[in-house]
Amino acid sequence: MMKEPSRSLARFCEIQRRLAMSILDKAIAAITPPVSDEKRLEARDKARATAEPGDWLSQILDHHEEIEDAFAEIKAASTADARRVAQKRLGVLLNGHAMAEEAVIYPALAEAGKLGHANTAYTEQAAAKMQLAALETLDPLSDDYLDKLGHLEGAVATHVYQEESDWFQYMKQFASVEAQAHATVRYREEYGRYIDGGPSIGRFQGEGRSFASDGRHI
Ligand SMILES: [Fe+2]
Repeated sequence: MMKEPSRSLARFCEIQRRLAMSILDKAIAAITPPVSDEKRLEARDKARATAEPGDWLSQILDHHEEIEDAFAEIKAASTADARRVAQKRLGVLLNGHAMAEEAVIYPALAEAGKLGHANTAYTEQAAAKMQLAALETLDPLSDDYLDKLGHLEGAVATHVYQEESDWFQYMKQFASVEAQAHATVRYREEYGRYIDGGPSIGRFQGEGRSFASDGRHI
């Protein structure tokens, strides 16, 4: 007797969840309309021409390309397990890149005079993290999964285009030499912290003071 209502409730909750996800996807798509491949390539070439070897911008461009390759790997995977492994790789790359930009690059962009762009960048990356997390709840071989992956890839591509065609061009031109040198070192450090375990694991020295891995001064 109790089974039927609880199945109905579960079905209702599932429909509500999918509806909420679909509304979120549409809202994100409305904020970030798609950009043509031609325009994206043009922006990438321009950004590469602006970057200097090893600087913060060249590191970011390398990571943008790795993220694009990771999306392609997921789509090329033909089994659920292979797709999950590729998705995990995308998650590490995308979250590591986003964390480093949020800790270092967007504050520098705001400091250089573009607080509005920095706020937009934070908002877009928060939405991408939510979509990335949602992928973990879906069957990797389902249509819903591919739909969600497509929305995420589109949103990331548009976000990257904004960075390469506009925001980072501005920062490269108007941020001080000192701020850019700082960004180069700190972006590498934050990205490495996420990708490799980095200097926050175990003990490290910070301006003459020592810290334990839990942040306590020692
Ligand atoms: Fe980026």
